[in-house]
Amino acid sequence: MRVGLLTGGGDCPGLNAVIRAVVRKGEEHHGDTFVGFRDGWKGAVENLTMPLNVEVCRGILPRGGTILGSSRTNPYKIEGGPALVHETLAAQSIDALIAIGGEDTLGVAHRLHGEGVSIVGVPKTIDNDLSATEVTFGFHTAVQIATDAIDRLHTTAESHDRVMVCEVMGRHAGWIATYAGIAGGAAETLVPEIEFDIDQICDDLKRRHAKGRFASIVVVAEGATPKEGTMAVASREVDAFGHVRLGGIGNMLAEEIEQRTGFETRVTILGHIQRGGTPTAFDRVLATRFGVAAIDCVHDGDFGQMVALQASQIVRVPLAEAVAELKTVDPQLVALAEVFHY
Ligand code: F6P
Repeated sequence: MRVGLLTGGGDCPGLNAVIRAVVRKGEEHHGDTFVGFRDGWKGAVENLTMPLNVEVCRGILPRGGTILGSSRTNPYKIEGGPALVHETLAAQSIDALIAIGGEDTLGVAHRLHGEGVSIVGVPKTIDNDLSATEVTFGFHTAVQIATDAIDRLHTTAESHDRVMVCEVMGRHAGWIATYAGIAGGAAETLVPEIEFDIDQICDDLKRRHAKGRFASIVVVAEGATPKEGTMAVASREVDAFGHVRLGGIGNMLAEEIEQRTGFETRVTILGHIQRGGTPTAFDRVLATRFGVAAIDCVHDGDFGQMVALQASQIVRVPLAEAVAELKTVDPQLVALAEVFHY
C-alpha cells in the first residue's frame, strides 16, 4: 500500500518514534511505500511532501520534535481546504493516511474520514487531554521535565526563603500540573478545571510558613484561572482552532502572592522546554506500540479508528469517541495533591 503520514499540532517527544515504527513495520513486514506530508495538514492542503522510508528514519527513535514538521493549520478554516486535501491524496496515489496528533489534528481526521478518506489516528499530546486513551505519548516526558525543574526550584526556594511559582503547560487540563505537583511535593497545585481562590492560596501559604516551612512551590497550569473578580488577568490571542495563546498566569500569580503575603516570590515559566528534547523510555515504548498498531490497523482496513492505550493494552477506538470531549484531570488525583497542601 502507499501510505501517507503527517504530524499536526504542537510537537511532542515521541513523534519520531511513532514515524519510525510505522515505517519499519510497514516497509519491512507489509511491503508498503510511504509519503511524508510536511507540517501537518498544511502539507496535505498544499501537496508539500518529503521522502519517507527506513533509511530516512535511521537514528530518529530518541530524537525530539518531528522530522515531518508540524503546524496548527486547519483545512476546514481554509477556503476549499478539504477539497485540496482530497486532490493531494489523489495526486500522491495515497491508499491510506495516518494522522498523528491531538484533538485538533484528529478532529480534522475524523471529518475527512466522514468524507471518504481512509484514515487512522495516533494520539499525541503532552497535555494528556485526549479521551479514549489512558495516556498519550509525550506526557510522561513533560512530567519528568517539570518534576526535575521543581526539584531544582526547591533547593533555591529553601536557600532564599522564597515562594517559587512554576508555570507548566496544560491549556484545558491540569494533568502535567497535577502529576508534577505530586511528584515534586508542591505546596499548591492549580489546574484549569477548578478556578482558584487567591485568598485561600495566600492563607495556606501563611499557615505553612507560620509552621516553620519557609520554602513553598506553587505549580500552576497555564490555563488555570482565578475565581471571577478576585484577580486581574490579561486578554490573549487566538489560533486557527480558536485556542487562546496562553502563558503568563504564573507572573500574575507571583505578583499577587508577594503583595498579599509579603513573602518574596519568584516565577519560572517552563514553556516549550517541556515539549523539547528526547522522549523518556516509557514514551518511546508507547510511541512504538502506537506506530506498529496504526500500520496494522491500516492493513486490516479498519479506518476511522484511533489506536489507544486501555488497561495497558493497545486497542482501537472510533475517532469520533476520541475527539468527542476533552479528558480533564481525575478529581481523585487533585484530591491526592491537596492532601499535601497544608
Ligand atoms: O501541544 C499542547 C501545547 O503544548 C499546550 O500545552 C500549549 O498550550 C500549546 O501547545 C502551546 O502551543 P504553541 O507551541 O503553538 O504556542
